[in-house]
Amino acid sequence: GVKIATIGGGSSYTPELMEGFIKRYDELPVREIWLVDIEAGREKVEIVGAMAQRMWDASPYDVKVHITLDREEALKDADFVTTQFRVGLLEARIKDERIPAYYGMLGQETNGAGGMFKAFRTVPIILDIVEDMKRLCPDAWLINFANPSGMVTEAVVRYGKWDKVIGLCNVPVMAQMIEPEMLGKQPDELIYKFAGLNHFHWHKVADTHGKNVTQEIINKMYEGDETGMPKNIHDIPFPREILEQMQMIPCGYHHYYYQEEETLAHALEEYKTIGTRAQQVKKTETELFELYKDPNLDYKPEQLGQRGGAYYSDAACESIASIYSNKNTQLVVSTKNDGAVPDLPADCVVEVSAYIGGQGARNVAFGELPTAERGWLQVMKAMELLTIEAAVTGDYNTALQAFTINPMVRSGKTAQRIMDELFIAHKDHLPNF
Ligand code: NAD
Ligand code: G6P
Ligand code: MN
Repeated sequence: GVKIATIGGGSSYTPELMEGFIKRYDELPVREIWLVDIEAGREKVEIVGAMAQRMWDASPYDVKVHITLDREEALKDADFVTTQFRVGLLEARIKDERIPAYYGMLGQETNGAGGMFKAFRTVPIILDIVEDMKRLCPDAWLINFANPSGMVTEAVVRYGKWDKVIGLCNVPVMAQMIEPEMLGKQPDELIYKFAGLNHFHWHKVADTHGKNVTQEIINKMYEGDETGMPKNIHDIPFPREILEQMQMIPCGYHHYYYQEEETLAHALEEYKTIGTRAQQVKKTETELFELYKDPNLDYKPEQLGQRGGAYYSDAACESIASIYSNKNTQLVVSTKNDGAVPDLPADCVVEVSAYIGGQGARNVAFGELPTAERGWLQVMKAMELLTIEAAVTGDYNTALQAFTINPMVRSGKTAQRIMDELFIAHKDHLPNF
C-alpha cells in the first residue's frame, strides 16, 4: 500500500484531496494518509482530519488518516509527499494584500509584492522539508501545491537539489474542462500544449486530426459567459486584439499584466468594500469548518467550490497515480525545462504539458514563443530567480532587484517602502532576512 504525507493537512481543501484518492483507489491503493500541521493549525487539522477519515469510512476502502504535528513521523518511508501549507496562515496573506493596496499597488497571493513575500516565507520551509525527505523518505516524490507553486518548485530543484518534484496548479485543469464544452466536444477530443510559468502560461489547442482550433476557442470566449476563470480572479474579457495577434490563450492571471489598470481598480474597490480576497476567503473557510464539524458529513461539501483552487485534486491525485502506475497521462506541471521552452534556460522550472510516468515528467516541446510573450516570460523568470535567491540568501539588495523588475510593482521609493513594511509585518516568518 501507498503512504501519503500531506504537509499543511489542516487546509480546507483536504476533503477534495480525499475525494481524488477515493476516486482513483483502484489504480492507486492508498494505505495510510498522514496529515501534518503545526500548533497554529492544530484545531483545523483535527476537524478536517476527522472529516477525511469519515470520507474513507463511507467508502469501500480501508484507509487510516493520521493527524500529527510531527513532520518526521509522517515523512518516514512516505511514498508521496504533498505540500499545501500556508506559512503564517491567512493573516499573512491579508498583509500581503493590504500593505501594497494601501499604496495603490496590487499585492496578490502569487503576483506582485504579495506573491514575492509569500515566496520569501515559503521557500525556507520547503527546503527544510526537502532536507527531511533526504533522510526519511529518499525515494519519495514531492508533489507541491504551496504557492507561489512555480517558484517553490524551482527552489526545490535549484537549491534543494531534489529532482523528484512536480509543481501543480488547478488553472490548466479548469481550462481543459471548460474549453471542450465551449466547442461542444469531449475532453479527449482536444489536444493541448501549454507553456510558460505557473500563473503565467499560454496554451494552444488542436483537434484529434491535428487542426488548430485555438482561434475557435478565442471566438467562443467572447460569446458565452462561462469562461472557466478561477473564483479568485476578476473575470473581464481579455483584449481580443492581443489574443488574435499571438494565437494563444492566456491564463486567468494574465489579466494582471494585460489589464493591470482594470484589475488593480477592481481589487482596490473590493479592499474598500468587501475586503481583500484573503478576508473573503476567511469567511468561506469559517463556514467550511463549521460544516466539517458535523459528524454526519462524510463527503466534500458544495461550498468548497467557492475557493479559487477548486479541482486541484484532479492534478494532484492524477499525477500521483500516473507516477505510481507509470500511466503517462498528459498533465500540465511545473518541472525542469530541459528545452521544452527554448526561450528560457534549460535548467529552470517552467509550467508545461508533460507526460507523467514512473520517472516523472517528460515535457512536450512547445517551441519558441512570439516576440511579446518571449519578452514577458524572460522578465518574469528573472523576477522569479531573483526572488528565490533573495529568499535563500536573505539579501536585501537582491530582494529590491526582484521588486524592481516585477512588472506589477511600480519602481521607486514607494515600492521600496512597501517592501520595507512587508519585511516588518512578516519578520516572524522570515528567518533568513
Ligand atoms: P491554509 O491557510 O488553510 O493553510 C493550510 C495549512 O497549512 C494550515 O492548517 C496551516 O496551519 C498549515 N501550515 C502553515 N505552516 C506550516 C508548516 N510549516 N508545516 C505544516 N503546516 C503548516 O491554506 P489554503 O488556503 O488551504 O492553501 C494552502 C496552500 O495551497 C497555500 O500555499 C495556497 O496558496 C496553496 N494553493 C495552491 C493552489 C495551486 O493552484 N497551486 C491552489 C489552492 C491553494
Ligand atoms: C487558484 C490558483 C491558486 C490560488 C487560488 C486562490 O486560482 O490556482 O494557486 O492560490 O486559486 O484561491 P482562494 O480561494 O484562496 O483565493
Ligand atoms: Mn495555482
